[in-house]
Amino acid sequence: NIPIFTLNNGLKIPSVGMGCWTNYSSHKSVYNMCKTALKVGYRHFDTAEMYGNEAAVGQAVRDSGIPRQEIFVTTKLNNDGHHRVRKAFEESLAELNIGYVDLYLMHWPQASRGGLFSAEQNATFVETWKEMEKLLDTGKCKAIGVSNFSIKTLSELLPHVKVVPAVNQVEMHPCLPQEELLQFCKQKGIVMQAYSPLGQGDHRFMPYLEPIAQKYTKSLGKQVSTAQIALSWLVQRGVVVLPKSENEGRMKANIDLIELHDEDMAAVSAIHKKPGMHRSLCGYHSSDGSVFGWSYEKLG
Ligand code: A2P
Repeated sequence: NIPIFTLNNGLKIPSVGMGCWTNYSSHKSVYNMCKTALKVGYRHFDTAEMYGNEAAVGQAVRDSGIPRQEIFVTTKLNNDGHHRVRKAFEESLAELNIGYVDLYLMHWPQASRGGLFSAEQNATFVETWKEMEKLLDTGKCKAIGVSNFSIKTLSELLPHVKVVPAVNQVEMHPCLPQEELLQFCKQKGIVMQAYSPLGQGDHRFMPYLEPIAQKYTKSLGKQVSTAQIALSWLVQRGVVVLPKSENEGRMKANIDLIELHDEDMAAVSAIHKKPGMHRSLCGYHSSDGSVFGWSYEKLG
């Protein structure tokens, strides 16, 4: 019963996917995580060249015996691949070994050839995007999108595109609702995806969700967790969520969404207004709201 969203090219996408960033775990642990996820009902996986685990994700998809077209797989162009998009894409495709990629994202607007976010930050993302558009002609990539783009960087990109990005994936959770960016993307027909929707282990917003979780536990007659409230709030705002879990019980909970009443939606949306709560929990944003020198939604 995971809601299915439709991207701007008609492609269907399950609104919950398994976030496969796992702090560089072994091939075996990522493989087991994806296999278990497939068993309990996940049909959407979000990986990246940067995560170093495309091969494990692909192997789990192949070994599942589930028809390829019933599973949605995303991977991402690494920051050091902006000048070699076609080659980087083909390498990801070979690692995954699942025939095609459903969604290919530019992982960050910044290109860097050294370390992940090294000094070289040339604004090449327009040229990079033009190369990504060509991938659609190969038939090996069903949709293309971006990640970690702000209103500012999207506004620089959009006048130059033939294909509007299908998706913009950013950090999003109750401490970082990204409301302005969400409205901007909705207007442009871009679906937003939330990475680290549970705060990547920093669960400081969870205590505020506790009374809401208790309320639904009572009214629905089943255990509802604070994590389910956070994920349901995002999906109800039209956002695709990518929670990561290696625990079967939590995996199951994370695809069991709750329909929240308006007053509870508003209560979750207000958490970031409490003193010191409007913040990145992954450490990608500095206090002035910039991400590695790129202007982002202003943080309070
Ligand atoms: P685990 O893998 O042991 O379940 P995010 O998706 O925001 O990056 O958060 C991932 C973190 O949240 C992981 O540490 C994961 O641990 C934990 N997590 C995932 N699902 C839940 C849940 N339903 N309740 C509590 N913690 C969760």
